[in-house]
Amino acid sequence: MFSLLSLSQSDAVTLGVFMGLIIVAEFCYIIYLFYSDYRERQAKLEEAESVEEYDLVSTGGIPENAPQYILNVKDLKQWFPVNRSFFGKPKSFLRAVDGVSFDLERGKTIGIVGESGCGKTTLGRTILRLYDITEGSAVYTDEKGNEYELAKLKRKQLQPLRTQLQLVFQDPYSSLPPRMTVGAIISEAVRVHKIVPKSKVHNYVLNVMKHCGLQPHYYDRYPHEFSGGQRQRICIARALAVKPKLVICDEPVSALDVSIQAQVINLLKKLQRQMGISYMFISHDLSVVKYISDTIAVMYLGNIVEMGSTADICTNASHPYTQALFSAVPVPNPHRKAKPEVLQGELPSPANPPKGCKFHTRCKHCMDCCTETEPQMRELTPGHYVACHLFDEQPSEEAVEQGNDVTSVDENEQEQKD
Ligand SMILES: Nc1ncnc2c1ncn2[C@@H]1O[C@H](COP(=O)(O)OP(=O)(O)O)[C@@H](O)[C@H]1O
Ligand code: SF4
Ligand SMILES: [Mg+2]
Repeated sequence: MFSLLSLSQSDAVTLGVFMGLIIVAEFCYIIYLFYSDYRERQAKLEEAESVEEYDLVSTGGIPENAPQYILNVKDLKQWFPVNRSFFGKPKSFLRAVDGVSFDLERGKTIGIVGESGCGKTTLGRTILRLYDITEGSAVYTDEKGNEYELAKLKRKQLQPLRTQLQLVFQDPYSSLPPRMTVGAIISEAVRVHKIVPKSKVHNYVLNVMKHCGLQPHYYDRYPHEFSGGQRQRICIARALAVKPKLVICDEPVSALDVSIQAQVINLLKKLQRQMGISYMFISHDLSVVKYISDTIAVMYLGNIVEMGSTADICTNASHPYTQALFSAVPVPNPHRKAKPEVLQGELPSPANPPKGCKFHTRCKHCMDCCTETEPQMRELTPGHYVACHLFDEQPSEEAVEQGNDVTSVDENEQEQKD
């Protein structure tokens, strides 16, 4: 063979040694790369652990004398103009949020639940003043007791509140800028709002990442390198890095697998305990909402139809719509047969909502009065409100008959609630 290549034996030996050296050198280089990467990770880990001065959760918790409520929403409306006249005057409106009222306690979570299109996202965005408020009020109270009527504040006046009010979006895939590294994404708002001195930003961001379950070496990586759950952690880290007081989480786990959903929700709960944050948690999934919320508000076509503590809603769901939502929650028991109640028809258009009770077109308990008169919120038990004619103070005979039907919750519904 050597003769074929016209090499002498000594040349072949030299070539062999040379090739061998190249292979050894490449091998050493690969080991060096692994080692330097390992050293870099270790250094970042040590750096992240050594930061105590500027810690995400060090100043957390709720001051003793802070007012009880962080947010008071009263009769909030968000109507979008859908038809305009020749002169640009709106002729008709889409009533996405149509008179919503609730109070949120500091450090607690209110879950907003309802099917797609009922106005949950619009409610969250309206409170954050990403839309101008059509009517009603939303009062944010800070820890010192200063009250801000969000509906009346001008854009410039809202600026200082932007760090205190944050939003976590539903889709972790499109809400992260693809050309920025994780470190740059999280540090952007920290720099802009001067949360920590410039020289401390890098360490602070590593600290935030640690609290959100992100490895320090993710700092220089790009969003496309991560799974959905990790991306949502990045979104949460970005929102919490500015130390907000109220975070509106808009379907934050809807795009994730069930096991990852639990991890992300546990992370949100842990950070809430450590930092004293209040959450408005929006989801179409009652089984997710009941796991994280202290209070649950059920929305239908722009209105809250039932609201109460999580225990009230889970053990004594009273509105026919809430009961239908509960019946659709899967039962984690193969020996129990689930009988999900299929709601008749589609969600009506908020641009042309039904007269009377907006749910009457799909309600199996619908009575004559339901098609004419809008039901008012009634307090069934302290803190448990429902808007349905079945629970009117002086119910009609029809309502009494229907009411017997509703309150005798069948076995399946009871099992669902268990
Ligand atoms: N910017 C907008 N302009 C006009 N209509 C809108 C706008 N945003 C949302 N809507 C409408 O408001 C209704 C509620 O939407 P949304 O708040 O996104 O519901 P959900 O989050 O509960 O799915 C829908 O009918 C939607 O089409
Ligand atoms: S008011 Fe009437 S239509 Fe509406 S939920 Fe109650 S029973 Fe059903
Ligand atoms: Mg939505």
